[in-house]
Amino acid sequence: MPELNLTSAPAHLRHGSSIGQPLTRRDGVLKVKGQATYAADNHPPGMLFAVMAVSGIAHGRVTSLDVAAAKRHPGVVDVMTPDHKPQLAIDPEIKTNPFVFRMEVLQSNEVRYANQPIAVVIAETLEAATEGAVLLAPRYEELPALVGVDAGASFVPPVVGVGNPTENHRGDVEAGLASADKQIDAIYETPPQYHNAMEPHAIVAHWDGDGVQIDMPTQGLMLSLARVAELFGIAHDKIHIRSPFLGGGFGSKGLMAGPPVLGLMAAKLVGRPVKLVLRREQMYGPVGHRAPTRQRLRIGADGEGRLTALDHHARTVSSTFDDFYEPAADASHTLYAAPAIRTSHDAVRVNTGTPLFMRAPGEATGSIALESAIDEMAWACGMDPLAFRLKNYAEVEPITGKPFSSKALRACYDQGAARFGWAKRLLQPRQMRDDSGLLVGWGMGTATFPALMFQAQARAVIRRDGAGVMEIGAHDMGQGAWTALAQIAADAVGLDIDRVEFKAGTSDLPDAGIAGGSAHTATAGAAIHSAGAAVIAKLADLATNDERSPLFGAGNAGVIARDGRLIRRDDESRSESYAEILARAGVAEVEARGTGAPNPAAMEEYAMHAHGAVFAEVKVDPELGQIRVTRMVGAFAAGRIVNPHLVKSQLFGGMIWGMSFALHEEAITDRRSGRIMNANLGEYHIPVNADVPPLDVITVEEHDPHVNALGIKGVGEIGITGSAGAVANAVWHATGVRVRRFPIRIEELL
Ligand code: MOS
Repeated sequence: MPELNLTSAPAHLRHGSSIGQPLTRRDGVLKVKGQATYAADNHPPGMLFAVMAVSGIAHGRVTSLDVAAAKRHPGVVDVMTPDHKPQLAIDPEIKTNPFVFRMEVLQSNEVRYANQPIAVVIAETLEAATEGAVLLAPRYEELPALVGVDAGASFVPPVVGVGNPTENHRGDVEAGLASADKQIDAIYETPPQYHNAMEPHAIVAHWDGDGVQIDMPTQGLMLSLARVAELFGIAHDKIHIRSPFLGGGFGSKGLMAGPPVLGLMAAKLVGRPVKLVLRREQMYGPVGHRAPTRQRLRIGADGEGRLTALDHHARTVSSTFDDFYEPAADASHTLYAAPAIRTSHDAVRVNTGTPLFMRAPGEATGSIALESAIDEMAWACGMDPLAFRLKNYAEVEPITGKPFSSKALRACYDQGAARFGWAKRLLQPRQMRDDSGLLVGWGMGTATFPALMFQAQARAVIRRDGAGVMEIGAHDMGQGAWTALAQIAADAVGLDIDRVEFKAGTSDLPDAGIAGGSAHTATAGAAIHSAGAAVIAKLADLATNDERSPLFGAGNAGVIARDGRLIRRDDESRSESYAEILARAGVAEVEARGTGAPNPAAMEEYAMHAHGAVFAEVKVDPELGQIRVTRMVGAFAAGRIVNPHLVKSQLFGGMIWGMSFALHEEAITDRRSGRIMNANLGEYHIPVNADVPPLDVITVEEHDPHVNALGIKGVGEIGITGSAGAVANAVWHATGVRVRRFPIRIEELL
C-alpha cells in the first residue's frame, strides 16, 4: 500500500495497518444474535401504537371516514385526521431547501396517489390500531388516475438536488448523426421500482416537554433533524435522533418522508410515546421509488466503428405535486468518446408518490439503455462489444472535456475479460449452446458512477489512558460502513482498531452528512482522517515543545503516530506513548475536530468517476424462453479499497441489483385505478439465492490523488450500473432477440 496523501496534516502519520484489512462487520455478532436494536425494537414506557390508514384510490378526495367506529373499538385512543391533528409550524408543501420533498401529513382530504396516508389510528396495541384503521372504511370521490409516461403533457423538471442540468450537450449531434455510416435509433423502457428495504420505515417518537426523542432509521441524521426542527418549530438542540442500525435504505431513508412526521404528530396529539411502523404495502407510495423511464437513444458511428454522435433523451414521471425526476440520460455523459453528445429529460405528472433517489439513481436506468444501445451498435458495426468499447474509450470526460482524476477502466476491461474468458465469445448471436442444448449468451456492460463528496465533521479524542475516541454521526445501512470508518479512525489516530472507541449513529454527534451517493465512506472518512490528524498534531505539540520529551525539537512534521506512540522520523528508537505525553503534560485528554468536504478546485479541473466492467453469462431454454444467469464477473476500479471484504460484498449486492433490473423487478400499476398491484415481496420479484449465480468480483488497483485525502471513490452503487446491461446483452447474444423493455420476460423471447 502507498503512503497516504496527507495534504492537511501537520503531523505526518504513517500509513497504518487498519485500512486495507478485510475485517468482517464489527456489529455482525450483535445482528446475528438478534441483539442489535433497530428503531422499531424500542418500547418506551407508556408507548402507544399508531397505524396509518392509506388511500385505496390514486386520485380524488376522501369524503368520509368513520372515526366514531374506529374510536369505539376497544383499545383505540385517538384517530388523527386532517380535521384533528397538531398544527405544524410550517406548511409541509413548502420546499425550504433542494433536499426537502413535499410530504403528505394529513394537510387536506385530497388524494394524490394510492397508499397516501389519510388518517392515523393510535391505540394501546398494534392489533387495536390495525383494526381501528380498517373500521375507518373511507369513502371517496374518485377522479381518473394519471398513469404512465404518456399520461399527459410533459414538462422539463428542475435540477435534482445539486445534480447536472436537465439538458446538456457538447458538439453538433445532428451533424454527427447525419455523417454516420451506421445509426441506431431505439427506445428502451424501464419500470417503476421500489426500494424494498427489509426494515420498513419506522419511528418511535417520544415528546419530552418541548423536546423530542426519536428512534428512526435514517440515511441523513442532520437532514432529518433539521426537517423536524422546522416542521415542529423547535430548536435543533431539543431533538435527539438515534439511528444505530438500518435494515437497508437504498435512498428511501435519505430524506424525511411523511410517515415518520405522522408518528411525531401522533405522539404530540396523545401526549404519549408512539410507535409507527409501515406495513410492506405502505412502502409503495409515501417513501419514494424509482420512476419509470422511456429513453430514446440515437447513436451514429463511422465506417471504422467510431462514434460520431450520441443523443440520449429520457422521459420519466414525477408526482402531481413535486418535481423529482430520474436523471437517466446523464449516464451518457461519461463513458464513450463521441464528439457530439446531447442529453435531455422531460417528465409527466402522474398520480404516484414522488419518486426519489434509488440505488444508482439515473445511472442504473440510463446505463441499461446506453449499454444495450452500445451493444446494438457494436453488432451493427460487426465488432466485438469489448473491442467496440475500447475503440470508443474516453480518454477525457466527453461531455466536459476534462481529464479524469483517475480511470483504470482499461484494466477493468482487461482483467474482467480475462477472468471471464471473453476471448472465446462467438460474434454471432444464438451460436453457443451447452451440453444440454440450452442457448448460451455472453454479454458485457460498462459500469460507472460519479465519485462524490458531501460535507462531514468528526471529533477525535486521545485520552489519558492512551486510548482514542472518534465521534461522527455516521450511518450504517447494513453494508459495514461503521467498520470501514473505524478502520480509517484507527489509522487516523495511530492506534489499533480495538483501542479506538467509535461512536456513530446519533444526532448529538458531529454531522456526517448523508449516507448516499456512494459518498459516505469517502466523506465521513475524510472528516475522520482530518480529525485524527488534528488531534495527533495537538499531542505532538505537547511532546515536541517539552524538553523532557525524547521528541523535543522534532517538530510536528518530524514525528509519526503508530501503535499509540509518537515516533521520531529521524530516529525511530526515540518515541513516547500517548499516555506518557498526556501524563507529563497533566491533561486528561486532547481533542480536535476535522472536516470532510468536496474540493472545488479539483472538481473544476477533473472529472471524478469510479468505473467497472461486468461480464455475464446466461442460459436460455430455446423452447420455454426461461432465462438463467449462470455466472457473472465484475472488475471495478474505485480508488482506495478501505476493506476488501466489505467492498466485495457491496459489489456483489450491486451486481445482483443489476441482474434484478434486467430480469426481475417491476412494480405493476393498474392503469384503471392507479394502484400498484404487486405491493408485496411475494409478487414484486427480486432475485432469491436460487436465482443468483456464482459472482466473481475483481477490485482493480487505482490510486486517485484528487478525489479526497484518502483516494476513496465509493462502491455503494456502481455495481448495478454495468451489470444490468451485461445481463440484457447476454440475453440478446443467447437468443438473437433484442428486448428493449425491462425486465426482460420469457414471452418476449418466444
Ligand atoms: Mo443512495 S440512492 O444514494 O442511498
